[in-house]
Amino acid sequence: MSSSQTKRPLSSAKTGPISGDIRVPGDKSISHRSLMFGGLAIGTTKVTGLLEGEDVLATADAMRKLGATVTRDEDGTWHVTGVGVGALREPDSVIDMGNAGTGIRLMAGIVATHPITTFFTGDASLCKRPMGRVADPLSKFGAQFITRDRGRPPMAVIGTDEAKPVTYTLPMASAQVKSAVMLAGLNTTGTTTVIEPKPSRDHTERMLRHFGVDVDVKVNDDGGRTVSLTGPVEMKAADIVVPTDPSSAAFPMVAALINPDSHVTIRDVCLNPLRTGLITTLIEMGGDITITNEREEAGETIGDLVVTGKNRLKGIVVPAERAPSMIDEYPVLAVAAAYAEGETRMCDLEELRVKESDRLAAVAAGLEANGVIHRIEGDDLIVTGGVVPGGGMVETHLDHRIAMSFLVLGLGAEKPVAVDDANPIATSFPNFEKLMGEMGAKFALHS
Ligand code: S3P
Repeated sequence: MSSSQTKRPLSSAKTGPISGDIRVPGDKSISHRSLMFGGLAIGTTKVTGLLEGEDVLATADAMRKLGATVTRDEDGTWHVTGVGVGALREPDSVIDMGNAGTGIRLMAGIVATHPITTFFTGDASLCKRPMGRVADPLSKFGAQFITRDRGRPPMAVIGTDEAKPVTYTLPMASAQVKSAVMLAGLNTTGTTTVIEPKPSRDHTERMLRHFGVDVDVKVNDDGGRTVSLTGPVEMKAADIVVPTDPSSAAFPMVAALINPDSHVTIRDVCLNPLRTGLITTLIEMGGDITITNEREEAGETIGDLVVTGKNRLKGIVVPAERAPSMIDEYPVLAVAAAYAEGETRMCDLEELRVKESDRLAAVAAGLEANGVIHRIEGDDLIVTGGVVPGGGMVETHLDHRIAMSFLVLGLGAEKPVAVDDANPIATSFPNFEKLMGEMGAKFALHS
């Protein structure tokens, strides 16, 4: 999103039960990848259910600048005609990835092993985020990087046409870094290997296979994974049906759980086991969530979620190992914890400090402003639940998930909760206010 846009303060107020049978927008991770991989494949990929949020639209523009043809039918079906791995053209202008960390990091991997120079920039949030985590392994292929402020965008990537294959052990659990390395491997002669000590979302591995790439995944003795592919590869166009985003489903899900007598069905949600940590956690907290209609589509597990507010949530300890499977869901889990009986401890949230904002700090500040008892111990966040006083103003720091999480907090609070800027919501969940409003959520422009 544009950081020069005027802020749009919004507040939410105690709502009572919410109900509805809804579809949230398409999964952001899968949407980005469908456009990128479609643009690298030979032939035309049809994509249905694409998330038409600002982050993904930035990726569509990026792929166009690199030579792919990306179009949208009136009914919302997208078509991507690829140029083939190795045949991207040098963009003639700077690529603006907006707010999208996934966009810039995966694109960096793609262009690193093409003989072109690409300039990336982004909004004020993206320009604070560390790119060294991709620049370091991608430099080993032979690419060169120029960044400002010790690894922040704007960033120039000088790609190599003599890429050397790399074996890389991830220093942090990150699907973005894993994917950047795998994507650089597509146009590299030889075998590229990524070892991840803690498994992170595997949409890249699944979707590359769907496009005809032989991706080898081994489960290691310590529970981590070794992922490898041998390039150069040829990718064949393959249609994608994008499931709905579990990270967006999280907001109506928590809204239903904290408002007794709520009943919400959320359709066609991506239930990839590396994305379902929040569902596991909320069920452990006593939440009434049922999965129905489970099925497979384009290499991903999909199902419907039926959520009611009939049980009061209870505080639990959320183990560190679960963090990669729910990394984007901690802000809204902190909201659920604010309404739960007792203490919820969320362990090892270090990675939250380098998201669209420093989410650990932003969540703590938002809880503080609304009278929720909490503390940070090392990288753990501990929230004590009960009646939520509300009445506070929350700074969103250009972070869509901070904005949506605190708007959900207000739906059960004694006094309305305001966020200073609802604009960032458009990056991932453009119809959030409308969809939640139709289910009974009370939102109002805040002056
Ligand atoms: C994503 C990976 C995660 C997540 C992000 C999307 C992806 O980031 O937070 O929203 O699509 O690969 P990290 O890989 O940095 O954990």
